[in-house]
Amino acid sequence: MFKRFKLGTKFTLILSLVFLGGIIASFVILSQVLEKRAEEEVSARGLVLIEAMNSVRTYTSTQINPLLAADLAVSEEFISQTVPAFSAREVFETLRTNEAYQNYLYKEASLNPTNPRNQANAFETMLVNQFRADPELAQLSGFTTLNDQQVFYNARPLVIGSESCLACHTTPETAPASLISTYGSEGGFGWNLHEIIAAQMIYVPADDVFSSARLSLTLVMIIIVVIFALVVAVTNVLLKRSVVRPVEQMAGLAQRVSADTLAPDAQELAVVERLSYRQDELGHTALVFQKMAKEVYAREQKLKREVQRLNIQIDEQKRSQQVQQITETDYFQDLQKKVKQLRDTQVGEEE
Ligand code: HEC
Repeated sequence: MFKRFKLGTKFTLILSLVFLGGIIASFVILSQVLEKRAEEEVSARGLVLIEAMNSVRTYTSTQINPLLAADLAVSEEFISQTVPAFSAREVFETLRTNEAYQNYLYKEASLNPTNPRNQANAFETMLVNQFRADPELAQLSGFTTLNDQQVFYNARPLVIGSESCLACHTTPETAPASLISTYGSEGGFGWNLHEIIAAQMIYVPADDVFSSARLSLTLVMIIIVVIFALVVAVTNVLLKRSVVRPVEQMAGLAQRVSADTLAPDAQELAVVERLSYRQDELGHTALVFQKMAKEVYAREQKLKREVQRLNIQIDEQKRSQQVQQITETDYFQDLQKKVKQLRDTQVGEEE
């Protein structure tokens, strides 16, 4: 069935098939690459945010806490602003008022929290234990579900890095009285220096990751499809102009030669002659073809003349044969004899 198609159609079909394969392959590869890229981008942004939160924590421990330590010791009410975890959370809530970050979530997920809202869920507990088992592990990231929503997470281990933390997190007895009256003596105690006690979590809705990947993918696919379509169209036009039409023109000349209707001023000959000026393979073919057509024409003309000459010769021969036949007949011989006799008698009479 493929054999029935014209050259142009064949090429278009083959190219389209190749391009279709190319487009599908690009789609599969690109969608994976772009998704990975989007993940990396979101992950990098999450890590920057965790770093920023750590800076806020350090700032609170080293600058705010010493300023308010004296007040905290005697205060009836606990001063939450002295707590690194509190300031980090507050700063992040402020950040969330920015539309670009409103769907982000920050949490210091702890196995034994001071504030119950920081209680690690099953998934976070698993991450904390993973960090505890491998102190070399600096971060974890991936997809999970949070409140029935698909999210991308970044996690970092949170370590008791300085002695100052222990003032509030060792035992309820050593902690400020106001802390106990506000938070109770249940959680957030018994921590040791350099112990991993929580995971800093950043959550981003997966839709944010995928939509950015989808946007890039759509854009790239549109560009690829447009380029492929252009290549097919241009190839088709070029093929028609530089191959299909010249071949048709040469076929036209061949048709004339075979039908013996070629004249030296035939239009087909002029067209192929123009074609023969081309430097490519078809130009050479046209040159050979045109020469051949001319030679065939010349030879045919010669042959015709020869046939004519032979015809004439045959005619002459026939005539002399006929004359001979006539002269050889008895009647003619007799007639000749009679003519001779007649001539002789006439000569005698004249004498
Ligand atoms: C002034 C007392 C105080 C100091 C000092 C302090 N914390 Fe806390 N920490 C608290 C309180 C109170 C909370 C609960 C804050 C809230 O409401 O979320 C808390 C919360 C946390 C949390 C979140 C989990 C939880 O228990 O709710 C972590 C993690 C934490 N602290 C680690 C540290 C580290 C590390 C340091 C030292 C850099 C430190 N804390 C220093 C009082 C303190």
